Amino acid sequence: MGYKTLCFGFSCVLFAYSVYSPVPENIEEPWKVIFMDAVIKMTSLVATLFENIGLMKYEEVFFTVAALQFTEPVSDENVTVVDTNFSDIPVRLYLPKRKSERQRPAIVFIHGGAFVLGSCKMSAYDDLNRLTANKLGAVIVGIDYRLAPQYQFPAALEDCVFVTKFFLQDKVLAKYGVDPARICITGDSSGGTLVAAVIQLLQNDPEFKDRIKAQALIYPGLQVLDTSLPSHREYEHGPIVSREMIIKLASLYVTEDKTLLQALLRNEHMPPGSRDLFKFVNWSDFLPEKYKKNYVYREPVLGKLNDAYPALVDNRMSPLIANDSQLQVLPLTYVVTCEHDLIRDDSLIYITRLRNVGVQVTHDHLEEGIHGALSFTGAPVFLHLGLRIRDKYISWLEENL
Ligand SMILES: *[C@@H]1O[C@H](CO)[C@@H](O)[C@H](O)[C@H]1NC(C)=O
Ligand SMILES: *[C@@H]1O[C@H](CO)[C@@H](O)[C@H](O)[C@H]1NC(C)=O
Ligand SMILES: *[C@@H]1O[C@H](CO)[C@@H](O)[C@H](O)[C@H]1NC(C)=O
Ligand SMILES: *[C@@H]1O[C@H](CO)[C@@H](O)[C@H](O)[C@H]1NC(C)=O
Repeated sequence: MGYKTLCFGFSCVLFAYSVYSPVPENIEEPWKVIFMDAVIKMTSLVATLFENIGLMKYEEVFFTVAALQFTEPVSDENVTVVDTNFSDIPVRLYLPKRKSERQRPAIVFIHGGAFVLGSCKMSAYDDLNRLTANKLGAVIVGIDYRLAPQYQFPAALEDCVFVTKFFLQDKVLAKYGVDPARICITGDSSGGTLVAAVIQLLQNDPEFKDRIKAQALIYPGLQVLDTSLPSHREYEHGPIVSREMIIKLASLYVTEDKTLLQALLRNEHMPPGSRDLFKFVNWSDFLPEKYKKNYVYREPVLGKLNDAYPALVDNRMSPLIANDSQLQVLPLTYVVTCEHDLIRDDSLIYITRLRNVGVQVTHDHLEEGIHGALSFTGAPVFLHLGLRIRDKYISWLEENL
């Protein structure tokens, strides 16, 4: 039997093995979700294998798969698309061609990918931003911030803050015909983490306060303090993202040292003296009753880790641990959550905390939703769910920006 046949046979067995992951009952288009879930789980298995035999690092396999979806900047009849740099940070701009009487609204877009993979150039984001630019007549700035593990915390955030501030300069806004009073900042997943952190920094900086009208967070990750929220337990094995996979990838934003990874998996990673921060993420206080189900609050064990990682107690990493006076200055907020999402509860807690201090929040919750759905709006797999999230987000922008 040839080597290729052997590999093929091996892949088939792995595939069949992963394909049998059950998905929650009320999920629509279940076969497509099972297929995507299987592809991702298989990628994770292959990545583990490659890492163990020293061929490629775990995250590099994911990065390579994601990179297959990168697009060139292609303009169409409605929108001019250009890749350029703001100072030395790569951005992709979407500039509507249609003449406009008024100045245009604008959106700063921050992509997801657990801080280690992806780009605003991925086809699903390209479609989303192109459509948004066309429908709203908006200028869009997609940021290709630096990725971990090569560039660790807070590099990604620094790039996003830099690009946002660069864009907010009067002369830059004027160059693109942007109305300074109609700017939103949007991100999904880890892009949502970055959005929440950027806006907290800007709102608490007198020079930039109230320069951004709104933030849109699409199933964002918002904290790393407690990795055992009810949604972490319920969706530990997915669909789409599993607890182990997301922790393996996202922990690289802090360090490549595996002891942190192991501690995060055990929920024993927080340093001594950090107990006070847990009041901001305590799900037994902030989660709506419906989502507590029969889960019992377990207090995380502190001080087990010898190394100190300042990122773990930093609200630029966990925007959820900002205190109430930092939250109450935040602008109009839009949040999309999905029921079947490992990191769902981060958002639900944040929404409660924002509303408690009077921030205006629009919340769209998709009962049949899964994490990452917005990335499945084109080949190879498109989900109606993804299109629905896209439409909800765009109509919210049309009404609010
Ligand atoms: C250009 O905009 C029109 C009107 O919104 C739309 O029907 C058409 O499909 C758009 N073209 C492309 C290439 O997206
Ligand atoms: C943008 O910056 C990147 C990284 O600094 C650099 O590699 C690239 O050549 C620059 N591109 C342009 C168009 O200036
Ligand atoms: C979390 O909340 C519960 C219930 O309000 C409380 O008993 C517990 O002490 C809190 N834990 C921490 C670490 O704040
Ligand atoms: C909230 O945090 C900020 C920044 O760390 C601090 O300056 C401020 O005193 C805190 N406010 C309260 C009420 O704790």
